[in-house]
Amino acid sequence: MSEQTYMNEGIDSWNSFMLLYNSALKEMGTKVEILNDEFQHIHQYNPIEYVKKRIKTPESIVKKLKRYGYESTLENMSKYVNDVAGVRIVCSFTSDIYRLADMIRAQDDITVLSIKDYIKNPKESGYKSYHMIVTIPIFLSDRVVDTKVEIQIRTIAMDFWASLEHKIYYKFEGNAPEYISRDLRECSSIVSMLDAKMLSLNEAIMEAKKEQGDPRPESWDRNAQAHTGDEDEDEISIQEEMEWNLHRSDLEDEDGALNQASVQAGKKA
Ligand code: GTP
Ligand code: MG
Repeated sequence: MSEQTYMNEGIDSWNSFMLLYNSALKEMGTKVEILNDEFQHIHQYNPIEYVKKRIKTPESIVKKLKRYGYESTLENMSKYVNDVAGVRIVCSFTSDIYRLADMIRAQDDITVLSIKDYIKNPKESGYKSYHMIVTIPIFLSDRVVDTKVEIQIRTIAMDFWASLEHKIYYKFEGNAPEYISRDLRECSSIVSMLDAKMLSLNEAIMEAKKEQGDPRPESWDRNAQAHTGDEDEDEISIQEEMEWNLHRSDLEDEDGALNQASVQAGKKA
């Protein structure tokens, strides 16, 4: 059922809605973590640098509804505010953004409601990011509710730009002098240049490693290795490091906090 049906069935308290949105954040967080782990397994690097999750504050929900010209009701919130639950995925490279978006889109239980590609079409401000509004089913004791989540995917450089621009925007309450806005747009093109440079650098590194015949865990003959006892010490310590990092992310998930580090599993590229 949709959030609206949920509402019509008399489950209309603020807390019931927040329970849904919080659950949706947990589900999305786990999905993203699994994708990151699988990616690490296949490509030997983590596409995700960190993940941030947040629930919109009541003040900010009311402000948004007011801006849209709607009364502050739970029904209007569930209909018109698409970003009560928000997940921000910060990736290493631009190519990772589209890969992750495709992987999320391909999941059977996720329905994509809308996409805004501010990387191909940056905002007037210079803002770049890939946005998706999706629904994810939340299994309650007696019903399943499709709950909306806003997913923002960007590179570290884009994230850096967006947080600084946000601070500056707030300092001027939206009325920054033109030369500042212009400089911010200029910084945004520098961010794109940096992202492109880092991507080609990464490709060059991968190519160079391949030429050197870098042994990857994938190419090991696992059965032979297990019995000869000849394992290379260095390779083992890398493997162990990865295992430790996987455990670390388990632990950090348990406290359920705004867990930036939850998908920062082993950076062994
Ligand atoms: P909002 O009312 O801002 O949520 O806009 P929207 O519902 O039209 O969605 P949009 O996809 O444009 O923006 C959603 C979110 O992207 C915002 O809440 C911000 O987190 C981020 N964002 C959008 N534009 C900008 C920008 O110019 N600068 C920064 N720093 N962030 C932005
Ligand atoms: Mg928003």
